[in-house]
Amino acid sequence: MKRLQGQTALITGASSGLGQGIALAMAREGAQICINYSHSQEGAEETLQEIESFGGKAMIVQADVSKQPAVKAMFQKTIQTFGTVDILVSNAGIQKDASFLDMSLEDWQKVLDINLTGQFLCAQEAAREFMRRGIVKERSQAAGKIICMSSVHDIIPWAGHINYATTKGGVLMFMKTLAQELSPYKIRVNALSPGAIKTRINESVWKDEHERKQLLKLIPYQRIGEPEDIGKAAVWLASDESDYVQGQTIYVDGGMTLYPGFVDNG
Ligand SMILES: NC(=O)c1ccc[n+]([C@@H]2O[C@H](COP(=O)([O-])OP(=O)(O)OC[C@H]3O[C@@H](n4cnc5c(N)ncnc54)[C@H](OP(=O)(O)O)[C@@H]3O)[C@@H](O)[C@H]2O)c1
Repeated sequence: MKRLQGQTALITGASSGLGQGIALAMAREGAQICINYSHSQEGAEETLQEIESFGGKAMIVQADVSKQPAVKAMFQKTIQTFGTVDILVSNAGIQKDASFLDMSLEDWQKVLDINLTGQFLCAQEAAREFMRRGIVKERSQAAGKIICMSSVHDIIPWAGHINYATTKGGVLMFMKTLAQELSPYKIRVNALSPGAIKTRINESVWKDEHERKQLLKLIPYQRIGEPEDIGKAAVWLASDESDYVQGQTIYVDGGMTLYPGFVDNG
């Protein structure tokens, strides 16, 4: 029996990187997938083709997660097509880096809109659908599962990225508060906090030999992560294997949050 058999997972930002990795991992475990994207239609189609290549089922929906009408329409289309939504992976996120003094209000606001307000809008639609439907025992012990994509920067400060780190710190408390509020409805809410995973967002770092070596100094486990590392954790967090896990952040980071700088210092 596949671990997500018959469930529908809506994954935001599934046209690239971690979202794509999660979509493939969940589809392999029997979930039907709503592949969301905002600009990269080509990336979304690549995700769809890969899922279909092993006999999985998926659909593509374009929507900007920071816009409420678009988010509502995305949930409606998914429910029309697959009947309901069982799992939300709120993964879409961006970086717009600048030193604090140089950061424009526009770049501050844009990152908040997508990384944080996007989580609010998607989780609200998902929770409404989970409550409307309730538990379907054949599929899952929970009425629904929400996985918020955070980052190790929800606890590690990050100079030059204050908008991004602020949103991830916000995701931490958003996730915990939501888990507390939705627990009585048997809705599970948890977060994944990846360390450095090879995707488009940090391409300039892992493609440059010097930068890659510098990055490895921050990772005790001595390898940069792959989207599959996050896909596997997301499947577990969405499945009944983690049914008693509620309001937690799982750090999937090769030990980045172990403060490796203290190994021979301090
Ligand atoms: N890679 C890492 O090392 C790492 C570490 C910690 C946390 N994360 C988090 O993981 C998530 C995914 O990042 P990634 O590394 O996979 O980056 P990525 O390869 O750049 O993918 C970002 C995804 O988000 C989507 N997206 C951006 N703006 C959107 C919007 N307004 N509405 C809907 N979708 C939107 C993109 O879609 P389009 O391309 O179609 O615009 C894309 O599919 C982010 O939340 C990021 O903060 C990543």
